[in-house]
Amino acid sequence: MLHDNNERYGSITRFFHWVIAVLVLQQFFKFADRINEGEHWLGDTFGPWHVTMGATILVLTIARLLWTMKQKPQRPTNPGMDGVIAKLAHRLMYLSLLVMPFLGALYIYGKGYPVKVFGVELIAKPADEVPWALSLGEWHSPFAFLLVFLVIAHIAGALYHHIIQKDDVLKRMAG
Ligand code: HEM
Ligand code: HEM
Repeated sequence: MLHDNNERYGSITRFFHWVIAVLVLQQFFKFADRINEGEHWLGDTFGPWHVTMGATILVLTIARLLWTMKQKPQRPTNPGMDGVIAKLAHRLMYLSLLVMPFLGALYIYGKGYPVKVFGVELIAKPADEVPWALSLGEWHSPFAFLLVFLVIAHIAGALYHHIIQKDDVLKRMAG
């Protein structure tokens, strides 16, 4: 079943959800740069991939949103206050996934470095630091904290539905 219906999400929606979830979770290892200035295996392993994986998340998120708009009329709904809060959290997560890659690129450019994705230089190295880009790019970190908070609340919400309310909210996304 490729398409969503009123009872469950189809395989394309689930594919987008879980691939992006795994990519986002590994992006969080970038917090480990705060330990010993990134000089350890976590920083060494995940650090170099951060920009490329972030750009991949951006492309997947745009494709996912286009797909979501198409599926909207036939999707499962969330009645009640619960649903309103969940919807707000989902929108804020989408917003974070859309703006964070641009803010990350502005941070790097603002610091005076080139921005490379899959080894290809997308933005050339500026002659010097670029203060306006850096001051916008510094919002990347607050968004990272917002996203961590949202993801934790989101997972707690999904588990609450599954374990306490014993409904099929988790099952309809999990498969
Ligand atoms: C949605 C995708 C992304 C997520 C979830 C994400 C997540 C994160 C996280 C959790 C941190 C650590 C923040 C901190 O320690 O305060 C971080 C830092 C950073 N990210 Fe991303 N990131 C994404 C995309 C990108 C992209 C595409 C770029 C570059 C083009 C980028 C560049 C950076 C840089 C330069 C830092 C270090 C900034 C600093 O030390 O304040 N990120 N990111
Ligand atoms: C970084 C990780 C994650 C991100 C960014 C994320 C993001 C999202 C977003 C944006 C939606 C809304 C989809 C839409 O309506 O268009 C969603 C739905 C959902 N997510 Fe996640 N998610 C993550 C991880 C997880 C995990 C680990 C679980 C399970 C424990 C989970 C369970 C669900 C469920 C059950 C739904 C469907 C909710 C409903 O039908 O109202 N998510 N997720």
